[in-house]
Parts: sequence; structure tokens; C-alpha cells
Amino acid sequence: MSDEKSRNHPDTDSVALGYEALRHLGSLKPPIYETSTFVFATAEEGKEFFEAAYGDEGGEPGESGYIYSRLDSPNLAPVEARLAAWEEADDAAVFTSGMGAITSVLLTFLRPGELVVYSLPAYGGTTTLMAGLLPDFGVLTRPFRAGATIDDLESLIGEDNLKMVYVETPANPTNELFDLDLCFTLARRHGARLVVDNTFLSPVWQKPIRHGADLSLHSATKYLGGHSDLTAGAVCGGGEDIARLRRTRYEIGTTPSPGTAWLLGRSLETLRMRVEQQTGNATQIASFLSGHEKVSRVGHLSQLEPGDTRHDIYKRQCEGPGAMVSFEIEGGEAECFRFLDAMQLVRLATSLGGTESLASHPWTMSPPTVAAEVKRSIGVTPGLIRLSVGVEDVADLIADLDQALSAV
Ligand SMILES: Cc1ncc(COP(=O)(O)O)c(C=O)c1O
Repeated sequence: MSDEKSRNHPDTDSVALGYEALRHLGSLKPPIYETSTFVFATAEEGKEFFEAAYGDEGGEPGESGYIYSRLDSPNLAPVEARLAAWEEADDAAVFTSGMGAITSVLLTFLRPGELVVYSLPAYGGTTTLMAGLLPDFGVLTRPFRAGATIDDLESLIGEDNLKMVYVETPANPTNELFDLDLCFTLARRHGARLVVDNTFLSPVWQKPIRHGADLSLHSATKYLGGHSDLTAGAVCGGGEDIARLRRTRYEIGTTPSPGTAWLLGRSLETLRMRVEQQTGNATQIASFLSGHEKVSRVGHLSQLEPGDTRHDIYKRQCEGPGAMVSFEIEGGEAECFRFLDAMQLVRLATSLGGTESLASHPWTMSPPTVAAEVKRSIGVTPGLIRLSVGVEDVADLIADLDQALSAV
């Protein structure tokens, strides 16, 4: 539980907030409390801790003392305080994975018969959950596309009981942008929550809570973790919502291990530096690709032109273009595979946001939930490559992309 509030810039909070060395034998960095359970000094104390965690008072585990690491552990508080500072939120909760965070949000705030509208394209795991498991539990789910007007969205909702507007922006894998102000207007009209997946830009470039989001969530496996060596998720938002999410987390067991929480806290210290370097590299790569004869389309926010409605959205809600680049190779799957197999420096792998550059082929390397014709209509074609740009030297990266394109 993060009981510390930020007073400083997130760059400062990232290295200090939520941890007092002198309460931990002077250890400059938080020790890793790699234990599954905690000893009570007396039986009476054990009773008190349980009453605080599970009682009718609505307390939280860890508030009076630690019980068991699925409920809470001392490694969670510093990272949660720092995440809340980054997102300008009251509080934050960390989870086992991005999907663990998303599932916890959906289970906490939706009930059978209620409606969630969600943006498409979105991460394949999210669309699988929205189109598959959630309807099995009686929750109504409907996708909407970028460019939908408020009237389009109202007719999508009809007479149903809208409880959540769920938006991933920029969206995986194309960088499609969704208008947060419009989503906020819709959510407020219906008394619904606005939930934003902020994974692609990270809080360095986008702060959804400033735009009215109730919850801003992440696959912390990506930029927040930043080194492709952990899986975690995070949700930032108002104090009451996060307290409810913590209860769900310990009820269903989406609590990260102490070691993962520690690693994530370590990574936040360098978040801005990594993301800025990656974004600078991606911007140069996007401009190289947009001039290449074998590339027909480049999706990077730096390439948006004034006059394009997406440019207006970008200017309103983003502070930088991020480090995800999608581009289409002339041809299709065979040409993409030749390109991917020819890469020397850029690695062929899914996931994103780490220090190393990765490339993948969304047409064949994402869950098959979305029908082929829908995929094409949202820009996910057999010729599409998704690049997650790392911190390497940009000239080396461009040279590798250039030689791989010549193999197409
Ligand atoms: C935008 C986005 N949201 C959520 C997730 C799910 O995160 P995780 O893989 O950590 O469960 C991903 C994973 O790629 C993602 O790209």
C-alpha cells in the first residue's frame, strides 16, 4: 500500500519516494522481502492484522502489518507510490502482468448485464478477453473504431447500461489514436468509468488522468519494466478505486512477487532516460522508413501532419511520439518474413518497450481472435511489421533495417 504522496517531480520521486533507508538497517536500496509469509509477534497481533485486512472496516492488507505475500508485501509500496507520482494519480497498484491488471479491473468494476465499449485495434490479449471470456460471464462488450463520433458511440450503446469506456491509445500494433476527450465526455454522460491502457507511450509522454481517465493502466512488462526481464502490470487512479482493486488482487491472486516489484521499482529510476532515447531513435527510424522504396506506409506519431484529425488528437493528449513504429512492406507475408529473417541486430520477438530493438509480424504473431477482414480494416495487414525501438545507436539500427529491407 502506498501511503506516501508525491511532492516532487516524478524524476525525483522515481529514486526516492515511498522508502526510508533507516527503517531497513540503512540499506540504500530497498531489500527484497523474498518471503511468502510474515511472523506475528503474538496471536493477538495476528488477529488484529487479519481484522484490518478482511474486516468490515474496508481496511487493506499491509495497513497494520504484513500477513502473507499474496495480500501485500513491503516491496510493493515504494513502486506503487512512484507509479502514482508518474501518472499524477492518488494511488497505484501493481499486478503479476498487464493482463493480470486488466482482468482485475474488469472483474472489479463490471457485473453481468453491464456494458463495456472498447477500442479496436487493441492488444490481442485484451480483445480476446473482451470478445471471449467476459461475455461468457454475462458482461456485454462492444468494440469501437478510431474516428467514431459521439453519436456513433451513443447508437452503439443504445439502451444498455454503459459502465466502462476502455481505450488503448496509441493502439497496438498500428499506433492508431483515440480521442480521450471524446471518450471522457461519453463516459461522464453515462456515469461510466474511463479506463486507458497507457502502455505504448508510458507516463513520460501521456498522462490519461489529466484527460479525465479514472484509471490509467499498463503492461509494466513494457516501458515501465523496460529491460524485457520481468512481467508485471500496473493500474493508477483514485484512492477508492485502487483500494477496491487491491482487494480483488488478493482475492484472485494477481499480486506480483516481491522480486518482480523490486525489479520494477529499480527500472522506474531510468524511465525517462530510456523512453527519451528510444523515442529519439524511433523518430529517426520512422523518417528513414518513410523515404524507403520498399515501404508503403509508416505508422509513427512523429509522421502525423497538421490537418489530419489524428494530429489534433496527438497535440491535445500526447507529449511525445513514443518508440513504437509500424510500417508496411510492399508485398505481404513472404516479403515480411524475408525481412525479419535477414535482421542481424534487431531481434525477432514479440513484446516491446525494452532496451533492445524488437520486430514482429502482427498478422501471424498475435492471438487469432480478430477475424482476418476486421484485421485488414484496422490496418493489420500481412505486410505490416511492428518495431519496438531500443536504446542502441540509431545509425547501427538504421543500417540493419536497410540491409534487411534489401533482402526483401
Ligand atoms: C498495449 C498492451 N496492453 C496490455 C498488454 C498485456 O500485458 P502483459 O503481456 O504484461 O500481460 C500488452 C502486451 O503486449 C500490450 O501491448
